[in-house]
Amino acid sequence: MCGIVGYVGGRKATPILLEGLHRLEYRGYDSAGIAVPHRSRLKVTKAAVRVGELRDLVGDGLPATSGIAHTRWATHGEPTDVNAHPQQDTSKRIAVVHNGILENADELRARLTADGVTFASDTDTEAIAHLVAAALDGAETLEQAVRTALQDVEGAYGIVVMDATRPGELVVARNGSPIVLGVGDGEMFVASDVAALVRYTQSVVYLDDGELATLTADDYRTSTLQARSTAKSPTTVDVDDTDFQLDGYDNFMHKEMHEQPDAIRRALLGRLDERFATARLGGINLDARALRAVRSVKFLGCGSAYYAGQIGANLVEELARLPADAEPASEFRYRNPVIDGDTLYVAVSQSGETADTLAAVRELQRKGGQVIGVVNVVGSAIARECGHGVLLHSGPEVSVASTKAVTSMSFSFALLALLLGRVRDLSVANGTRIVQGLATLPDLISDVLATEDEIAKVADRFRDARGMFFIGRVRCWPAAREGAQKLKEISYVHAEAYQASELKHGPLALIDETMPSVVLVPDDELLAKNIGTIEQIKARGGPVIAVTNAELPHGLVDAEIRVPHATRELDPILLTIPLQLFAYHLALRLGRDIDKPRNLAKSVTVE
Ligand code: G6P
Repeated sequence: MCGIVGYVGGRKATPILLEGLHRLEYRGYDSAGIAVPHRSRLKVTKAAVRVGELRDLVGDGLPATSGIAHTRWATHGEPTDVNAHPQQDTSKRIAVVHNGILENADELRARLTADGVTFASDTDTEAIAHLVAAALDGAETLEQAVRTALQDVEGAYGIVVMDATRPGELVVARNGSPIVLGVGDGEMFVASDVAALVRYTQSVVYLDDGELATLTADDYRTSTLQARSTAKSPTTVDVDDTDFQLDGYDNFMHKEMHEQPDAIRRALLGRLDERFATARLGGINLDARALRAVRSVKFLGCGSAYYAGQIGANLVEELARLPADAEPASEFRYRNPVIDGDTLYVAVSQSGETADTLAAVRELQRKGGQVIGVVNVVGSAIARECGHGVLLHSGPEVSVASTKAVTSMSFSFALLALLLGRVRDLSVANGTRIVQGLATLPDLISDVLATEDEIAKVADRFRDARGMFFIGRVRCWPAAREGAQKLKEISYVHAEAYQASELKHGPLALIDETMPSVVLVPDDELLAKNIGTIEQIKARGGPVIAVTNAELPHGLVDAEIRVPHATRELDPILLTIPLQLFAYHLALRLGRDIDKPRNLAKSVTVE
């Protein structure tokens, strides 16, 4: 999704802005641009190019010590040079960068056109530039003009506005699209993501929806859109620049897969209670009585977060014997769901900014639903709006394809299921078994990662497949879905996940020697059933790759990816790891852009 960077201070702005854009590249974009003050005007350079090419266009840059910059992911208008941001008003006095989508863009365009304005681009953002320019007449400050302009604007935005006549000032506003201020020593930064700032400062201020800020080199002032001061002190972010560096890895997905054992250890810290065979989740403001009053659990998330939620629902049902399910937040928000006061809703999101998940949280809260957030990014919108929940502690995740955050999500759900189970009928013995299983999981994940070369060889054998099935049964079905998702996302090979027993009700028609199936075969009570499924596939000539910790009959499958034994309820978490490696190595062999798959964005902050 789009990225915003702004700077005002004493240093040359262009290198800082370009470096900031570079740090935001992982979010996905199709064009980029920058505006800096130059001789009483704003010099805007923008094009449908990568940030590296923009750097070439800008050259060494001008001596300006302030400026704004943007990476755009097209929504209104195609990804062209003209539609790239910054957008300007007719006189070119104002420049605006904008994340989000305006809902009344057509209406604004019609109104402004009727007033004699000629639009240069197809974007909704340009309307903001014209509105601010118009509001400057009669306004004493740029902030006042922006405030007036925003009264006419409906929809989601994070914006930064510059005025050629006030080069030492940036005005920023947020409504539904993240904005964070970075407080430096004699310099101020603004960005849509801390990744662009942490190289310069760890001291940040998150803007809330409906909030506006004016930044100068030495100061920042926050207020509501209605001009009420919201004096805010900076907080310190617990990430630094090294989290956004490759550290010798070829890409972030590879780095982040290998960070999983440590990420899980962090998610585990202080959360296992061996004495009472339960979990401690201090971030959830629910005591034992409130936990007992929960009658069902529903997980809501998008993409991989939704599949992790399905793993969570199975764990809650198994360990706590509570009805539980998962639903894509994107569907939930639009279907006028019945909200049950006794249900615990769990909003799941790595970024904490996914628009659909955030909208689901708001719908729930409006209807009095009880919702907790399971989120990786501290200070993100979902974390703040839920007020309580579980932090994943995975560290920043840069690759679009989520790995360590998804694993931490499933892991956190196991802790939640254990907690809910132990205030109900989960025995001490079974609680202890799960506690021990969770404690050993990081080492088991390391063991799987150590077999990467073997998995790479299997991926290599199947690199020419035109499509694949991912087959799982009951508790491993969501893991199969996540495996298929990973392959689709980064290799562009068609992959479809099926429940093992559903195969015979349709998809078996597609099985032949050109359609490999990746079958998850945990050594559990359903082993014989899964072997039966494999035999059905083999009988139709389909190649089978088994991901397994069971002893399979000799010669049954074409390739085996071995995983160690875990506690059986936790198998789906462990079995997800080789599927990540499989997708990764297949995509690598196909020469794909691993961290930035086509058409995708890391966090989808628009509908
Ligand atoms: C995007 C990404 C997916 C991710 C989903 C949810 O669609 O491409 O990989 O799973 O968003 O993101 P979240 O930040 O809410 O976990």
